[in-house]
Amino acid sequence: MILTANNIYKSFAKTKDSKIEILKNVSLNLEEKKITVIVGASGAGKSTLLHILSGLDKPDAGSVKINDKDIFSFNDKQLSKFRNSHLGFVFQFHHLLPEFTAAENISIPILIQGKSMNEASERTHELLKSVGIAERADHKPSELSGGEQQRVAVARALANNPDIVFADEPTGNLDSANSEILHELFIKLKEEYSQTFLVVTHNPELIKLGDTILEMKDGVFI
Ligand SMILES: Nc1ncnc2c1ncn2[C@@H]1O[C@H](COP(=O)(O)OP(=O)(O)OP(=O)(O)O)[C@@H](O)[C@H]1O
Ligand SMILES: [Mg+2]
Repeated sequence: MILTANNIYKSFAKTKDSKIEILKNVSLNLEEKKITVIVGASGAGKSTLLHILSGLDKPDAGSVKINDKDIFSFNDKQLSKFRNSHLGFVFQFHHLLPEFTAAENISIPILIQGKSMNEASERTHELLKSVGIAERADHKPSELSGGEQQRVAVARALANNPDIVFADEPTGNLDSANSEILHELFIKLKEEYSQTFLVVTHNPELIKLGDTILEMKDGVFI
């Protein structure tokens, strides 16, 4: 298992002295080289769980191991370094840096890893080709369509060859034609690069791509 989460609890403060329990003893194993999909009603706790599994947020209790490393044993600096080198993220909104081109948005995390300019630009070019937008390399996000922006975001997520790509509603902001392109891309990346995905989605077509589908309700898997 590439990721193992055990007995995760998470609550948020509701008022000054009351809490609302969001995740209640959630455990999960993520299979390598597969697409695992998490579905469930709005407010079920899916994004909260994804943030914890990827080290963006901390649980109240429980452990998350990625490749046998306990990610909450890291300090903040180690954890952000681990995230940058081992994990990739795709969100509903692309979160690309507006003042940089598509190519630069992909290169930046590679350069942060300490790779040379040459290595970064080679990898960036390969990724832009792989997601089908090599000819848009020099466009800024505002000069790209929504579908293209999201494909750049996928390329950026893959920049450092992550162990796992976490995607939260990656097609939530796309029309059906662009969603379809993204679905095909996920399948291609799984098959060609053996990429492991954890995807949260409401999109029935994207759910179908899951090798494993987990349904969450009121903070537990059912
Ligand atoms: N920082 C926070 N503080 C307080 N409550 C929060 C916080 N983040 C999330 N919640 C609450 O936790 C619950 C679960 O939220 P979460 O975002 O995980 O749901 P979700 O399953 O991703 O829903 P959606 O499908 O709408 O994205 C919601 O009731 C939400 O209001
Ligand atoms: Mg959510």
